[in-house]
Amino acid sequence: MGKITVNSVCLMKGREPIAALTVYDYSMARLLDDCGVPVFLVGDSLGMVVLGLPDTTGVTMGDMIHHTRAVSRANARALLTADLPANSYQTPEAAVENARQLVEAGAEAVKAEGGLVICEQVRAIVAEGIPFLGHLGMLPQNVKEEGGYKIKGRNADERKALIEDAEALVDAGAFALVLELVEPEVARELTDSLPIPTIGIGSGEKCDGQILVTTDLWATSPDFIPKHVQPNTMVRAEMKKTVLAWRDSMR
Ligand code: KIV
Repeated sequence: MGKITVNSVCLMKGREPIAALTVYDYSMARLLDDCGVPVFLVGDSLGMVVLGLPDTTGVTMGDMIHHTRAVSRANARALLTADLPANSYQTPEAAVENARQLVEAGAEAVKAEGGLVICEQVRAIVAEGIPFLGHLGMLPQNVKEEGGYKIKGRNADERKALIEDAEALVDAGAFALVLELVEPEVARELTDSLPIPTIGIGSGEKCDGQILVTTDLWATSPDFIPKHVQPNTMVRAEMKKTVLAWRDSMR
């Protein structure tokens, strides 16, 4: 099986479900690559699940570079995408400079949150030869302004805005779109109408693929498991058993 490229991901639309997971370090990357997961995202969710921050807004380029480098050392078959963190893409120049830094750290594509408002930045990144993954719906980098993690597309205005944003990102050169907490019927509509793959999270089953925060799938987070995830194994509970058994074995 060969290396997964942006082109192979695009060709999966309508043919094969696209499985994407977040990844934050070398051993996690080796494990997920052994499982044949085709798309990795070094997500800025690392702020919460690795760094203990309350949300993603405090994640820095330094954090993203550090974790992208670690993941890239796994030399995975998967396509390695990485998040541009909050405040790193306010202008086209900043977006290109920071996207370049993530590519130097090993990313093969970058993701940023937003639609029409970041289209100039997206065009500049794509013009630089760096593949761009869009992110619409609930935008975690705006969680403070939004006052929480809310489902998008429940009314006509939100639905219209999502469609306009998605079309603008396609036009700007995005190769795929993450749809986070989008009302499932709107996610299905976008999946059917857009020429590029949609990758959903908490947006129903009708997207071209699904992405999860891997620590949610594993149930290793000490805090909570989102409603859209049903872990098969409570890995944190199993890990605890292992640690307790080891500690007890010393008595
Ligand atoms: O940072 C992240 O983990 C993400 C996923 C939720 C898509 O952006």
